[in-house]
Amino acid sequence: EFIVGAIEKSDYYKENYGYILEAIILAATDLNLGTCWLGGTFNRSLFSTKINCQKNEIVPAITPIGYTPETRRTKEKAIRVFVKADSRFPWSKIFFENTFSTALPRETTGRYETLLEMVQLAPSAGNKQPWRVLKEKDYNNYHFYVKFSQNSKLNAYNAFINIDIGIAICHFDLTAKEVGIEGTWKILSPDIDTPEELKYITSWIGQ
Ligand SMILES: Cc1cc2nc3c(=O)[nH]c(=O)nc-3n(C[C@H](O)[C@H](O)[C@H](O)COP(=O)(O)O)c2cc1C
Repeated sequence: EFIVGAIEKSDYYKENYGYILEAIILAATDLNLGTCWLGGTFNRSLFSTKINCQKNEIVPAITPIGYTPETRRTKEKAIRVFVKADSRFPWSKIFFENTFSTALPRETTGRYETLLEMVQLAPSAGNKQPWRVLKEKDYNNYHFYVKFSQNSKLNAYNAFINIDIGIAICHFDLTAKEVGIEGTWKILSPDIDTPEELKYITSWIGQ
């Protein structure tokens, strides 16, 4: 069985799709069901036809869903080694304070530490973990950016970056709800010196 969705192309459609499908995937995981984000290795036209996808709509990614075997198959193990599926970037490489040259001190984040850990654990295409998050010192304002690869070998993953950040935002947002942290999402133009390869997406303004 598969979970397949279509979305109209519009501003932030990939982020929205990433958020929504990840929320479904987390709910499925809670029910002990296995899933796997597929953005590249699936027959897009077949699935688009199956769900009667309209001309202005697209199927950005899908997931199989079902009961997983106790052990992984050899091919799956090989792919996981290739993309280093079990590793994640360290905190200091993805979370910053005020500038992108200062790592965010973990001990200053208080109840937000768990939210950021859930961002760190999020799945991403090729496990590229393109999210970079910058916190304003003394405020619970978190600005979310994505890092595009300039490396031509890794460019293929750039197409999934906006889905990836939607997934990371889903993790942050659902964890905030779970632990009772309140805030709102706003698209701003933060006055922050930003390296060329980073692109601003959205901000969490905590109460
Ligand atoms: C948007 C997106 C697209 C993905 N596309 C594929 C894919 O086409 N084929 C595949 O085998 N895995 C795909 N993955 C799975 C990632 O490789 C996997 O999430 C990552 O390596 C981390 O592993 P984990 O989810 O088991 O922690 C995709 C993941 C995301 C988020």
